[in-house]
Amino acid sequence: MKDKQSQWLNPVIEAKIDALLGQMTLLEKAGQLTQLGASIVGGFDFNAFLENPDPEMLKNVRRDFHEDWIKQGTVGSYLGVQGAEEINRLQKIALEESRLGIPLIFGLDVIHGYRTIFPIPLAEVCSWEPELARKTAEVAAREAAAAGLHWTFAPMMDIARDARWGRIAEGAGEDPCLGSAFAAARVRGFQGDDLTDPQHMAACAKHYIGYGAAVAGRDYNTVEMALQTLHEVYLPPFAAAVDAGVATFMSAFNDLNGVPTSANRYTLTEVLRDRLGFNGFVVSDSNSIGELVMHGYASDRKDAGKKALLAGVDMDMVTESFRFDIPELVEAGVVPLNVVDTAVRRILRVKFMLGLFDQPYRSNSAIETAAQLRPDHLELAREAARRSIVLLKNEAGILPLNKTLKTIAVIGPLADSPADMLGSWSFTGSAQDAVSILSGIQSATGAEVLYAQGCAADGKQPADFSEAVEIAKKSDVVIAVVGETARMSGEAASRQDIGLPGHQEALLKAIWQTGVPLVVVLSNGRPLALPWVAQNAGAVLETWQLGVQAGPAVADVLFGAFNPAGKLAATFPYAVGQVPIYYNRPLTGRPASDFWFTSKYLDGPVEPLYPFGFGLSYTQFAYSDLIVTPGAETITIQAAITNTGSLAGEEVVQLYLRDVTASRVRPIKELKGFQKILLAPGESRTVTFILNVADIGFYDPEMNYVVEPGLFNVWVGTNSAEGLQGEFWINH
Ligand code: NOJ
Repeated sequence: MKDKQSQWLNPVIEAKIDALLGQMTLLEKAGQLTQLGASIVGGFDFNAFLENPDPEMLKNVRRDFHEDWIKQGTVGSYLGVQGAEEINRLQKIALEESRLGIPLIFGLDVIHGYRTIFPIPLAEVCSWEPELARKTAEVAAREAAAAGLHWTFAPMMDIARDARWGRIAEGAGEDPCLGSAFAAARVRGFQGDDLTDPQHMAACAKHYIGYGAAVAGRDYNTVEMALQTLHEVYLPPFAAAVDAGVATFMSAFNDLNGVPTSANRYTLTEVLRDRLGFNGFVVSDSNSIGELVMHGYASDRKDAGKKALLAGVDMDMVTESFRFDIPELVEAGVVPLNVVDTAVRRILRVKFMLGLFDQPYRSNSAIETAAQLRPDHLELAREAARRSIVLLKNEAGILPLNKTLKTIAVIGPLADSPADMLGSWSFTGSAQDAVSILSGIQSATGAEVLYAQGCAADGKQPADFSEAVEIAKKSDVVIAVVGETARMSGEAASRQDIGLPGHQEALLKAIWQTGVPLVVVLSNGRPLALPWVAQNAGAVLETWQLGVQAGPAVADVLFGAFNPAGKLAATFPYAVGQVPIYYNRPLTGRPASDFWFTSKYLDGPVEPLYPFGFGLSYTQFAYSDLIVTPGAETITIQAAITNTGSLAGEEVVQLYLRDVTASRVRPIKELKGFQKILLAPGESRTVTFILNVADIGFYDPEMNYVVEPGLFNVWVGTNSAEGLQGEFWINH
């Protein structure tokens, strides 16, 4: 567990840090703990603005970089500065004009690409290929590092079980096993094997922790959960990131069981440091230290800074409490100097690991320009995009589209909207680089393509479907591209209704009335509740927000150049009233049945519209011959998978487990492994999973991981709701 992190304790580096600490003044130490934003710098009272958002206040925002502070050595990091030249200019001031010449570390949100925007993270997870995510993170790092950056605030690894929460788009969905695999892969992609390599950058595991469990799916809202749930469901991706050697963590905005996570000693110190052995540094979220006051957890900024630092936050993102208040608190004997020294040490450690002392200028504008949108980056963007697509329905084999079609109608507000293909957190990208779904289709077919927008995505304009209906009637098939704009998911983008926004469902109904075969292409940042679409469309393709190569990737799938193989990383509900809905929920004593007094709804189903792990292919797979072989330390589980269709195809084979009787109520099923295999038509392959007995336990009330003897059920299948079932016993 601690191997990758132990490389962080290099005696040579630690000795250099000792020497520096010996020379630093208290103000310089507080400066190292300080990250300034490039656009909102100093003097802006964000809390007052939150309470009373008076636009007049924005006039007082300073938009300089506070170069005087760099010269004084009282700033350690910047957020939001872009461009190799500008970063080098500021770095030069730090190196040449500050007393100790300690380099600055520059960070930015490089979430799913820098200039080459890849699919949103949730989409990419639907590939179930962590290696793909490693590659896209590596390219994102290459482009961003060429732009002078040292550090990305990614990967985001918050488990999310509630699709109302807009930030579900940024993470890996609802499952800790899948989420852990992607967290580790993305960390490896951003960081590479050696952080001194100027084509890589430090990663940041965020948002620590529980942020995705905001009550009612409302962003920044309170979080309450049992500690067992925290350890079993929400923590594993973060633990996997630590194991993968992640350099930094970001604390979150939310409180957890009453204690804000940016001042939570239990999570930041007892769990992260003492249990997981993390040796990098923790940055707060943007102003999350200042917001301890809004939480009612600190009396003022100084009190907030004290609580955050003592709990285990090392760097203050934009509140400036560490810079202004910590020296005073140390002098007053309220904060011990060794706490400050420890935080400074962790930050300097990351700067040394990045090689910033030896190679402070890691790029220049020529390298920056040459690195962006390289042909190999675009090729990977297309590959990642088509691998992220999930085929949800394909009645009577309507897809792939027949090559003999003469006229195709492409309808919908997201069909010709390159900017929306980029999704949230794509401000370093450009809509001009993105290929719309309409253009992708036009380039891929010889058929006549008719286009109508149909309606606006947000319902702000009155609905007039006449043109759309008109072109539908003239066509052999309609491809309706509907869903959410980029701004409808992401931060501060929670929704109460997770159906199609505005008039889009009405548009689909009007088109459907024509009787022309209807293919619905969804483009959205969260699972949607779409029972009408699922029931009535001929085919449904979930394409999320696929990035710059959205158009070609969607066309590849529509016309059969690529056989879709994605599987959902988050459950799709029938209705918003079902959320939070997730497959690995604990067993109830009264599972739904026809009997009145059971766990169900009066007005809708219990089961989801599409379960976790679900996704179709243009071919079919049959599962057979499950063999379970328990051993003392491992259990071997095998099943044969056969491609029974007429096309080559990939299948994600999923392994689920249930602890049948335990001293704590256990989930209905938990994903324990997955493998993606490619099978030629008629080909059959035996897939083997090896489960470690040590890994099939759970946390007891003292947070010890225990494996209890007894009966276990096991499933190998194509999604979380289907599969061959077997069992085994664990005897101690
Ligand atoms: C707030 C967001 O919560 C976080 O994810 C992001 O990294 C910071 N802002 C910095 O932009």
